[in-house]
Amino acid sequence: MFDQVAAGYDRTNTVLSVGNATLWRVATTRAVAPRPGERILDLAAGTGTSSASLARSGAHVVAADFSPGMIEVGRKQQADVPNIEFVVADGMALPFGDDEFDAVTISFGLRNIVEPQTALAELFRVTKPGGRIVICEFSKPIAPIRSAYYWYLKHIMPPLAKVVSSNVPAYDYLFESIESWPDQKTLAGWLRAAGFTDVKYRDLSAGIVALHKGTKPLAARPAERPAAEEK
Ligand SMILES: C[S@@+](CC[C@H](N)C(=O)[O-])C[C@H]1O[C@@H](n2cnc3c(N)ncnc32)[C@H](O)[C@@H]1O
Repeated sequence: MFDQVAAGYDRTNTVLSVGNATLWRVATTRAVAPRPGERILDLAAGTGTSSASLARSGAHVVAADFSPGMIEVGRKQQADVPNIEFVVADGMALPFGDDEFDAVTISFGLRNIVEPQTALAELFRVTKPGGRIVICEFSKPIAPIRSAYYWYLKHIMPPLAKVVSSNVPAYDYLFESIESWPDQKTLAGWLRAAGFTDVKYRDLSAGIVALHKGTKPLAARPAERPAAEEK
C-alpha cells in the first residue's frame, strides 16, 4: 500500500492535514533535540521528510522503512542532505545492533506496524542506555472536537484524497487505523512496558496528534530483553 502512495505522499499529507503536518514535524524535531555527531534512527521514515528535518542539526540520521517505494522517493527527495542514510528495514526485526542510537523516533508509523509493541521492544533494544525515544502519532482528540474530527475523516477526507492521492483506498484505511488506535495513556503504558522510563506525552492540535517521549534507563542491561533472544 505504501509503495503505491509514495509518489504523491508528502503533497497529500499537506492537503489532508490542512497544513498541520509541517507544525507536527517541527514539534517532533524539537522534542528529539538532535545534536551534531549523534546517531538517530527515524523508523518508518517514509520519504524522509522528518529525517531531513532531524539531519539539519548535523546528526547522522538513519531513515529506515519497510517500503522500497517510499525509500526510493525519499532518496531522490532528500538527495541534497548528505547525513541521511536510507535503509529498507522491518521495524519488528531491526537490522541494527544493541545500544546503537542516541535517539530513536517514529512519526505516523507505529500505528501502521502490524505488531507495534514488538517494534517498541526493538526500538528499546537499539537505543543506547540514557538515549531517548520520541513518538509522533495520531491520537484521541479532546471531546469537544472529537465528533467533528471523525466526521472530517469519514466524509471529507476520502473525496479530498481522490483529488490529491494516487491511491484512494489507502485513505479509507487511514480513518480505520486512527479510530482503532489506542489513546495517549495507553500508548504511554506500552512505552513503559517496553522498558522506557520518564515517559511523558503532550497533545498537538487538541490531541489529534500526541507526542510521546521516554528514556532508556542508564542501567538497562541485555537481561531486560525477551528470554528467547538470550539462548
Ligand atoms: C504514514 S507513513 C509515515 C512516514 C513518515 N514517518 C512521515 O511522517 O511522513 C507510515 C510508514 O510506515 C512504514 N511501515 C509500515 N510498516 C512498517 C514496518 N513493519 N517497518 C518499517 N516501516 C513500516 C510504511 O512503509 C510507511 O512509509
